[in-house]
Amino acid sequence: MAYSDKVIDHYENPRNVGKLDAADPNVGTGMVGAPACGDVMRLQIKVNEQGVIEDAKFKTYGCGSAIASSSLATEWMKGKTLDEAASIKNTTIAEELALPPVKIHCSVLAEDAIKAAVNDYKQKKGLL
Ligand code: FES
Ligand code: FES
Repeated sequence: MAYSDKVIDHYENPRNVGKLDAADPNVGTGMVGAPACGDVMRLQIKVNEQGVIEDAKFKTYGCGSAIASSSLATEWMKGKTLDEAASIKNTTIAEELALPPVKIHCSVLAEDAIKAAVNDYKQKKGLL
């Protein structure tokens, strides 16, 4: 299968790989798995007092498309509000990376991870 240059770039130079302190009250953690292939993605956000995501990190145990999708997601989330971040769609990620149909679920994993991280943060803050 031919991967797009953007997938290869994010796969070879993933942005924002790492970990934030999950116990930090300003950090939201999303942990999701793909039933289709068993891959796992952890995505974390750190939110400032204005409700803006000032940092985002991920760790993905999965294929190149899943790594690229989560790398791109962390880039896009930084500087966004929680609601803006939560409205990032997997279709937009898949389009940006030119993912082939069999790899669409990898971008779904990223969207799920974004939502899970935002929800975790909101839950911690009593916003849900
Ligand atoms: Fe398992 Fe993507 S299908 S790594
Ligand atoms: Fe399963 Fe990419 S996350 S193939």
